[in-house]
Parts: sequence; C-alpha cells; structure tokens
Amino acid sequence: MASSSFQPLQGMSDIAPPDVYLWQMLEARAREVFARYRFEEVRTPILEKTALFTHSLGDTTDVVTKEMYCLEDRGGRKLSLRPEGTAGSVRYIASGAEQTANARMYYMGPMFRCERPQAGRKRQFHQIGLEAAGAPNPLADAEVIALQLNLLSAWGLEGAKIRLNTIGLPEERAAVLEGLRNAIRPRFSELPEDAQQRFETNVLRLLDSKDPAVQAVIADVPSVTELLSQESRDYLNTVVETLRSLEIDVEIDTSLVRGLDYYVHTVWEVVHGGLGAQNALSGGGRYQVQVGSRTIDGVGFAMGMERMIAALESTGITADQFAPEPAVFIVSLGEAALKENLLLMQMLRQRGIACEMELTNRKIKAQMKRADKLGARQVIIRGDTELENGTFVVKNMEEGTQQELELPELMNLLT
Ligand code: HAM
Repeated sequence: MASSSFQPLQGMSDIAPPDVYLWQMLEARAREVFARYRFEEVRTPILEKTALFTHSLGDTTDVVTKEMYCLEDRGGRKLSLRPEGTAGSVRYIASGAEQTANARMYYMGPMFRCERPQAGRKRQFHQIGLEAAGAPNPLADAEVIALQLNLLSAWGLEGAKIRLNTIGLPEERAAVLEGLRNAIRPRFSELPEDAQQRFETNVLRLLDSKDPAVQAVIADVPSVTELLSQESRDYLNTVVETLRSLEIDVEIDTSLVRGLDYYVHTVWEVVHGGLGAQNALSGGGRYQVQVGSRTIDGVGFAMGMERMIAALESTGITADQFAPEPAVFIVSLGEAALKENLLLMQMLRQRGIACEMELTNRKIKAQMKRADKLGARQVIIRGDTELENGTFVVKNMEEGTQQELELPELMNLLT
C-alpha cells in the first residue's frame, strides 16, 4: 500500500516538534494553575458507552445526533469516542460516595467529533477542562471563571473576552421554551426548514443561530433572561457581582445558550478576535446530570487547545519560544573514545544534563556539523590524547572558544 494511504484521517493530525512545544507549555502551566486552586487530574477512558453521552449531553443535541464516532464492539455493545469531557467526569463523580461528592478534577486529552473539518474545527481535537462538583452556588461559578482567566494569563494570552449568560433552572425550562415558541410562532413560516425542526426539538439553539433568516425572526423575541424567574436572575447577578468584586469584568450576552443540554444557571464562552468564525476558545457553565439515582451538580469549562494555540499565534507567540534548551553534544575520535564517551554520556544524563552523541565513528567534521544542527550549546571532544591525559576538550558553540578541562572542572562547567 502507498504510504499516502496511511496518512492520518481527515480532521486529525500528528502533533510534532516544533508545534508540540507550545502544547507542552499549555499543559505544564495548566497543571500549575490547577494545583494552586486544588484541582486534581482524573483520566477517564476515551471510549465509553454511547448511552452515557446521549443521556448526559441530550439526545437531540448536534453533538449526539450528528457528530459522535460510534461503534459496536465484539459483544455488540454500543460505544462512542468521547466528544467532550464532562459526561465521563460526571460518571466518575457519581461512582464514588463521599470522596467524590465535592470532587475538583481536571483533564486534558483528545476528544472526537465527526464535524465538517474547517479552520478551528477538527475531528480529533484536544481539551483542557475542569469540573467542580457541588450544589449550585454563584460563588463557585465565579471562582471557576476567575480560575479560567488566571489560566489564560498564565498562558500569556491577551485580548480574550468572557461572554456570560444564564439559562435558568430545569424546572423553569418548560416555561422558557414555551415562552420562546409562543413568541416565534407568528413568524414560524419564515424560518428555514432545519430551523423549523429546531423549533420543535431545541428551540433555544435558534437564539444563537448565525443564519440571517433565523436572526430576523428572533430579533424581537424576549431573551431567555426575561422569561426566567427572579431567583435565576438573582443567581446571575450574584455571579457578576462576585466577579466584579474580584476585579473581573464580564459581558452579559443574552443570546448565548450553548449546545449541550446539561446546563443550568450560568453559561459562558471565552472568545478571541484572533480566531475566525470558530471564535470560541472555551465553553463552560453550571450543569446538572442525573446518574442512576443520583443528581450530580457541578460547574466547569473546557478550553479547545487547537483554538488556544491559534489565538496565541495570532498574538505573536510561537512554538520556538518553548523549544527545549540546547543540549551538550559529545564527539568521539576513535573506537576507544567512543566507548568511554558512552559512559560519560550516561553519567551526565544521570546528573540531569541533557546530552547526545554520535554512536558511530564518523569524521570529526560530520560530527561537529550534527552538533551544530542540533543547536548544541557545548561540544565535548575526546580522542586518544585526551583519554590518555584524562581531559576533555570543551567547545562553546556560541562563543567559538575552546578549553581543555579535567572531569571536576567539566562537571562544574556543565552543572
Ligand atoms: P464545548 O463548547 O462543546 O463544551 O467545547 C469546548 C471547547 O472545545 C470549544 O470552545 C472549542 O474551543 C473546543 N472544540 C469543540 N469542538 C471542537 C472541534 N471540532 N475542533 C476544535 N475545537 C473544538 C464542552 O465540551 C463542555 N464539556 C465544556 C464544559 C465543561 N462545560 C462544563 N464543564
């Protein structure tokens, strides 16, 4: 088979150096920020029962009806690649009793959605997300939003904005949906066909439609907030006031509804001007999911790593800035030196010094060329004479200077 047949699938990519340096930076700094807020990592499986997702995310959502990668295993079980991280997290939280009731967990890893690939939309993409389990409390929502902003600044991203809204309580949902339908019904015939279907199955999603025909119809429709109870509006106000007291300004966007059914109360997105049409870097909110006899409440968000990287790159941050420090390179002249240098390399590595060497006895010029290509900072050269004298010639590649040292001096120089 031609090697081109083995390319990654459409919408999925290898992530390799130098790009991967930026990925590693995001992951490392996220771990630091999460630890400061006392969140701990939980790694849930990538493959789960399809029912977990249909039940948690909602069986009429786009993600569930159109985008999941589904398969049957040999036992005929219906399984899906996870399209997001909250469903698995909630399953994990519900699996424990006491210790997970107030779980503060985070995750990072691949998610899968079989969408039409385009800029900012991949079929295998990656999220860094977190979930804080616990009863609804506007202070908890504000804490998670504050954490998210802290994370964005740890990553060095400037110019991101948070758009915030509330979609109220589950018990109000029926009244809200009815209120929306009543307001839209007189102009129902003006809606395109797919929107007419949405009117029945998921009328909330009409509010954030980008279709001008839909936008024209919903222009005069009351916002979700107007249809909600005072209690829900107060909840949102407390989130906003708490954020203000933390000196965080957010924008209320009453058209924001999010595409997953588990949300209650607060929902938000982080957007960035450096991205195209897919400008959401992150989505989050408070949710409630029924798992068996338990109701799991929580609040969380997930950042799209690919989009985060695009946003960072649009502000001039590049992967090269996070490339590993140049290593020490060891050059051997002759068989005896090659053998001895293996031992030297082993010793240096055990002491935490990153180093490499040529494992064949090539000409010095070829070895030096390789050291240069690898960006080595120091080159240690040893041949028969140095072996005899117990010395090492060390070349500083930046300055072009060279000196002959004994082992203790060499170690001093390198550590
Ligand atoms: P979501 O809005 O579906 O929310 O996804 C979160 C983020 O993942 C998006 O803002 C985007 O950056 C990224 N993303 C989603 N789909 C794609 C794609 N096809 N290609 C590239 N990036 C993508 C959730 O997944 C919720 N589980 C978030 C959450 C956690 N809510 C509460 N806790």
